[in-house]
Amino acid sequence: MTNGTVLHSLHPLGMLDKFRKDPLLFLESQATKNDERVQFRFANRTVHLLLNPALVKEVLVTQSKSFQKSNQFKELSLLIGEGLVTSECPLHTKQRKIMQPYFTPRHIQKYVSEMIGSASGTMEGWEAGTALRDISKDMMQVTLAVITKTMFNMNDHEGHEKVGVHLEKILEMATKRIRSFLKPPVSWPLPELKQYKASIEELKRVVEEIIQHREILSEEKEDLLHALLHSRNDEGNHMKRDQLIDEVMTIFVAGHETTANLLSWFFYALENNEKVKERVYEEVDRVVGKEELCSEHLPKLPYTSQALEETLRLYPPVWMFGRTSVRGVKVGDHFIKKGENVLISPYIMHRNPKYFQDPLSFDPERFHKGRAESIPPYAYFPFGGGSRVCIGNHFALQEALVIVALYVQRFNFTISSDHKVECHPLITLRPKGGMFMNVERRVD
Ligand code: HEM
Repeated sequence: MTNGTVLHSLHPLGMLDKFRKDPLLFLESQATKNDERVQFRFANRTVHLLLNPALVKEVLVTQSKSFQKSNQFKELSLLIGEGLVTSECPLHTKQRKIMQPYFTPRHIQKYVSEMIGSASGTMEGWEAGTALRDISKDMMQVTLAVITKTMFNMNDHEGHEKVGVHLEKILEMATKRIRSFLKPPVSWPLPELKQYKASIEELKRVVEEIIQHREILSEEKEDLLHALLHSRNDEGNHMKRDQLIDEVMTIFVAGHETTANLLSWFFYALENNEKVKERVYEEVDRVVGKEELCSEHLPKLPYTSQALEETLRLYPPVWMFGRTSVRGVKVGDHFIKKGENVLISPYIMHRNPKYFQDPLSFDPERFHKGRAESIPPYAYFPFGGGSRVCIGNHFALQEALVIVALYVQRFNFTISSDHKVECHPLITLRPKGGMFMNVERRVD
C-alpha cells in the first residue's frame, strides 16, 4: 500500500461533481489505487479519504479528541437538535453516559417480546397467497413499529398515525437537502421549507405531548421513554425537557431506517445465494419451527446472525461518514490541518480484497467464531467505533434477528431474475427504486 495520493482538479467544485454523480463508483475507483489515503477537494474543503483500517482506528479511537462530527449531519440539527448523533463534547460525553445503560445487551433483552409483538402485527394484513410487494417499504414500516413500541409503548397503527407520517415526510426532505450542494437556507420563506419546518414542529409537538401525558399519569411502563424520563446524571439530576426531546427524536431518526435497510438487503442477498438461503430457512425451521418465537430461540440462531453480519459487510446502511479536525493532527504519516475533513467508508473498506478474501461473495461463514477474529480491527465497522460507536448496535442486531426469524417462519421471498437492484446511497444505503419481491406464505 502506498502512502497517499492527491487528486487535482480545475473544476470549481473539485471532486464533488464526480462524487455526487455516483458516490459509490467514485469511492470504489479511489480504493483500487492501493493508497492508504486519497486527498482531494470538495469545493473549498480539503478532504482525506482513509482506506487503511489503522488510520480509521486513529480517527475514531486513538485521536478522536482531535475530531468532531462533520457537517453532513448538521442538516439534521433542526430535527434532532443536540441529541447524541449531533452533539459534541462535553454534552455528548454526559448524555452518552446517561443513555448507555439502556442500550446494553442485558437491558435491550427486555424489549424482545415488544419487538416480536409489534413486528408480528405488521404482517397481519399480508395476503395468504403470493403477492408482489416493495419489501423496502414493509421493512421501514416494521422497524418504525418496533421503535414506536419500544420507545413509547404505542401500537403499530397509533405509532404510524402520530409519528410515522411526519417522520417519513421530514426524512425525505432532509435527504434531498443533504444531497444538494446549493440549498436555500432554512430561513428562506419558500413553500417547501415552510412545510419542512412545519412537519418538524408538528412531530416535536407530538413527542412533547406524549411526554407530558406520561408525566401526568406517572405510568410505569417498561419502555425507553420511561427509562430516559427517570435517568439521572452523576449529580442526580434528570435530563432537561429540550434535551429529552432531542434524544427521543435522535433515536427515532437513527434507529429505524438503518435497520430497515439491513433487512431489505438481507432478503435480497439470500435471493442471490441459494445455499445460504437454505441454511437460514433450515436453522429457523429447526430452532423455532411452528412455535411462537421467544427470546430463548434467538441465541440458537447463530448462522442467521452471521448472515446478518455479512449483509452489514456488503451493504452497510451507514455507507460513509466523516469527521472534521478541530486542530492540526497527524494521522499515520498524514498531516491533517485544522478544519479539514476526513471521510470514512465502511462500504469501501468492507469490499477491500486485502481484508476480505473474495470480497464480493456473500459468505456468512466469515463471521463464524474462530474465523471472525482474523478480520483486522476496523476493516469491518458497520456501527462505527470509539466513543461515538452506534449506541443502538445491540438493539439493531436483536431487532433484525427477531424480524428475520418471524418472516422466515411465515414467508418465502423471491425476486424475478430480470429485476436488477442497485444501491442508492442517500443518508443510508437504500435499494434504488425499492425492493420488489414476491412474498409467498409458507404452507403449514
Ligand atoms: C443496522 C442498523 C444500524 C447501523 C448500521 C447503524 C450505524 C451507525 C453508525 C456507523 C454510527 C456512527 C456514525 C459516526 O460515527 O459518525 C451510528 C451512530 C448512532 N446510532 Fe446507529 N446504526 C444502526 C441502528 C441504530 C439503532 C437501532 C439506533 C437506536 C435505537 C441507533 C442509534 C444511533 C445513535 C444515537 C448514534 C450516535 C451515537 C453517538 O454519537 O454517541 N442506531 N450508527
